[in-house]
Amino acid sequence: MAKGTGMTKVLAVGIGILTVSSVCGLVMMAVMYKIQIDNYPPVSPPPPIKPTVIPTGPPQNLRLPDHLIPESYKVFIQPYLYAAITNNYTNQSFAFTGNSTVRVKCMKLSKSIFLHAQDLNVTTVEVRKSDSNEKLSVISYKIHHNESNFFEIQLEDAMSKNGTYYIFTKFEGELFDGLDGFYVSQYTEKVKAKEEEEEEDEDQKRFLATSMLQPTNARRVFPCFDEPALKAVFDITVIHRPGTVAMSNAEGDADQTEIDGEEWIVTKFEETPIMSTYSLAFTVSDFKCIMTHSSTKMHVCARKDAIEAGHAEYSLKVTEDILKQYQKIFGLNYPLTKIHQIAFPDISVAAMENWGVISYQESGLLYDKYTASTFDQERVATLIARELAHQWFGNLVTMRWWNDLWLNGGFATYMSYFGVEADGWDLKDLIVLRETQTAFQVDSLNSSHPLSLQENDVQTSSDITELFDAITYSKGAAVLRMLATFMTQEAFDNGIRMYLAKFEYKNAAYKDLLTCLQKETKEDVEGFMSTWIEQVGYPVITIITQTGETSQEHFLLKQTQGHDFAWQVHIRYFKASELTEKTDFLKVKGPVRRPHFQLQDKDDWLLANINCVGFFRVNYDEENWNKLRMQLERNHHVIPIINRGQLIDDAFNIARAHRLNVTIALNLTKYLVNDTEYIPWESALKNLDHLILMFDRSEVYGPITKYLRKLITQLYDTFEEYTINGTVPEKHTDQYNQVNAISVACSNGLTKCITMARSLFENDKNSSNKFSIHPNLRKAIYCSVIANGDENDWEFAWEEYKRATVAAEKDKLRYALSCTKEIWLLNRYLQYTLDPSKIRKTDMVSTINYIAKNVAGQPLAWDFVRGHWSYITQEYGAGVISLGSLLDAVTKRFSTDVELEELKQLQREQEEKKQGIAARALEQVIERTEANIKWVKENKQIVKDWFTGEL
Ligand SMILES: *[C@@H]1O[C@H](CO)[C@@H](O)[C@H](O)[C@H]1NC(C)=O
Ligand SMILES: *[C@@H]1O[C@H](CO)[C@@H](O)[C@H](O)[C@H]1NC(C)=O
Ligand SMILES: *[C@@H]1O[C@H](CO)[C@@H](O)[C@H](O)[C@H]1NC(C)=O
Ligand SMILES: *[C@@H]1O[C@H](CO)[C@@H](O)[C@H](O)[C@H]1NC(C)=O
Ligand SMILES: *[C@@H]1O[C@H](CO)[C@@H](O)[C@H](O)[C@H]1NC(C)=O
Repeated sequence: MAKGTGMTKVLAVGIGILTVSSVCGLVMMAVMYKIQIDNYPPVSPPPPIKPTVIPTGPPQNLRLPDHLIPESYKVFIQPYLYAAITNNYTNQSFAFTGNSTVRVKCMKLSKSIFLHAQDLNVTTVEVRKSDSNEKLSVISYKIHHNESNFFEIQLEDAMSKNGTYYIFTKFEGELFDGLDGFYVSQYTEKVKAKEEEEEEDEDQKRFLATSMLQPTNARRVFPCFDEPALKAVFDITVIHRPGTVAMSNAEGDADQTEIDGEEWIVTKFEETPIMSTYSLAFTVSDFKCIMTHSSTKMHVCARKDAIEAGHAEYSLKVTEDILKQYQKIFGLNYPLTKIHQIAFPDISVAAMENWGVISYQESGLLYDKYTASTFDQERVATLIARELAHQWFGNLVTMRWWNDLWLNGGFATYMSYFGVEADGWDLKDLIVLRETQTAFQVDSLNSSHPLSLQENDVQTSSDITELFDAITYSKGAAVLRMLATFMTQEAFDNGIRMYLAKFEYKNAAYKDLLTCLQKETKEDVEGFMSTWIEQVGYPVITIITQTGETSQEHFLLKQTQGHDFAWQVHIRYFKASELTEKTDFLKVKGPVRRPHFQLQDKDDWLLANINCVGFFRVNYDEENWNKLRMQLERNHHVIPIINRGQLIDDAFNIARAHRLNVTIALNLTKYLVNDTEYIPWESALKNLDHLILMFDRSEVYGPITKYLRKLITQLYDTFEEYTINGTVPEKHTDQYNQVNAISVACSNGLTKCITMARSLFENDKNSSNKFSIHPNLRKAIYCSVIANGDENDWEFAWEEYKRATVAAEKDKLRYALSCTKEIWLLNRYLQYTLDPSKIRKTDMVSTINYIAKNVAGQPLAWDFVRGHWSYITQEYGAGVISLGSLLDAVTKRFSTDVELEELKQLQREQEEKKQGIAARALEQVIERTEANIKWVKENKQIVKDWFTGEL
């Protein structure tokens, strides 16, 4: 836990013990709570009875009782951390102290107070009446060391209804080195040697403290009412060491002062608007910023080196553009006077939208034009767009409880596609690849969940954390896109403006959103959307074009009895005989006969779900599939680009669900020799990738590789002129397809590709100009060279990795290093992930994921993850998000009984240890593995025959 933080040994050991024992306690209490909840299921409060009853004891579920409403907080936080240790007599310290005064309104006569606190030592508690300042006598107070994290205060006399009180607490805490709560992070900075001394520049250690409070970590910084609907105003003061800067949600004013004979800086922040605790943030660092002088002061902050190199400039410009765009779309100004966006070397998520002070991974915010690929740049723009959208969706209007998290995540994702337009990015079509198809994958499992759950089903911190997934973000966005088309974009935008205006500074449930949207249209928005929001999964629509017979069924990869419900399906379609778009509305399960889906002419075909606006898949009779394929082969331009991709994605997945012969799907890929568009190619490659995962350890792999080599040659040649010169075409999606062409061609052994890669690499190696290969191509080129090269090539790339100072550049090399086929190199690389001085913690999970993607690395990565499960779960205990992605990645290939058994073993061990960590993710990969086993058994020979026949 304390690895590499510079924490003293004694302290580290102490914390270790503390953690272990608190985990045991936590588990025990969690069990008891579970029993308690099972025995006494939470019930709604009884109707008001005798007013003299004073509630006592903890609430029966993990939610705070509703008898106290916080109004405002005054919080002092004093971290003792130094940003740099400049002489040998300074002792670094990870302690912090503080106090908090919260003003509450009492809604019910009550003698007990419940707030949240975790990992804190509370040393003083005082409760006073706000009007008379009279002290109430406190009998006892304690933190419940269980999943509730309740901080309970018992009073001698009751607080009276309608009274307002101040609750004062004084506390001590510790900056941990996990990546949540209030944590410490280390990095190095180049310090220029003095010229006259002729010494080399020196790397110096730097420390910073920052916070990640979503979803339930504010309670680890100060005792508070840590639920999203308990909004309040925050008046924050941070007391920190000279040489550091403190940042928080509001604008700050710094003053030097002396405390106990030491110099300190007191940064007092203005009062925040009324807001949720999870969106608070505290940062103390010696970071530098650049800023605009517009009416909203925008700052981008980072390590001094990165700021001096100009890496923050692009994001500052993008921020200005996007903020303006949103103010127009949302009809509401950005509510604060400033915004800080800060790039952190260590953070457990890509970004966190804290109101007015957003945190990012470095590669999500910093842009270096010399080393960034187009994809890196797009990532910066889209991430900023997403986090800025959260300032309205999430911070200004907040979900009432975490069960409606999609109101934050789905909206921010959806809106980001509009936000980036302000900076010239046209990505609207890519939403189908990035969100819709991603959500389709997870949502085709039994272990998926509805967009909106019941409040009571989301209680513990891990219940909450597990909701930060592809359903919440990607399905949320895809379903909003469907709704906007259904009710027209204009009506949707109007409804959104009404929703934001009505619920600003408040909380909302999804029904509140629907009520606002309903006012803008005659369509039945509420009836339509409730089927998509409340029901898990999505349907496959089956259309038999000979008869017009149409039906819908819950689409599941593993055919168990799906849910028996129907969705309201808005189908946009056209036929070859009349290329005009029409719509149909299917509200029942069916089968029902739809005359307009019946084809009269034997050459006619039907295409449904135009542009994949609907969140469903479409299956046809084999004849219609074949006619669509022939159309693609004859003239693919008749079929919209998105549908060319979607036909392929639907066919492969419907085949995975045993509803279509896989040869139909495979046949659809053949027309690609004539298509150069990115969306169809990307869809095909994703699905062929899955086939490769299923078969790359078997004799089917030979024919697959040969087919891919043949298929890709045309695309490779399209861009070859650019590629051999190390340059790129103009169009953004062509650039992405150029990279696809190189990586598929090289990894499937197209000789001229491998030769090209080697020659560009050698040029790069020998050239004085380090950037002779276009950044777009570096990842694919290096990967090919390392895959086909030797130890020296690996070591060269490793040196480059160590030398690189820009995170996006490091990431490319980190990926390329995973491409080697040498087992010992892969094993050593895995070991490096345990050493934060080699692979930063924030990169651990993705590095293991890269290695697992390599067929040679797969078993090594899985053994490694199992072997270090407790270390990894401890390091990422709360960051269940990346644990889920780790499990997902290292088991993607799983398709044998032995592998299934190993997963079940892990599940049993988890259950024995009563660990709920990543439980849903584990369930999902088990289900996927079972589906894979069945599919591979049934289809191996067919797939082999098909690929062999194509050679
Ligand atoms: C600190 O200690 C190191 C090694 O122990 C020594 O080289 C250095 O001169 C010392 N610096 C100061 C400022 O005392
Ligand atoms: C809270 O802490 C600050 C800073 O140490 C101090 O100035 C203030 O007096 C404290 N508040 C109370 C009520 O003790
Ligand atoms: C509390 O305030 C409400 C509304 O202001 C009032 O109707 C009610 O009588 C008050 N109750 C008490 C016990 O003072
Ligand atoms: C809390 O108090 C205990 C007992 O005095 C002490 O060992 C521990 O270090 C304290 N923790 C913090 C975070 O101050
Ligand atoms: C799938 O199609 C292939 C090739 O047309 C055929 O050989 C095979 O029997 C079909 N499989 C099933 C299950 O219908």
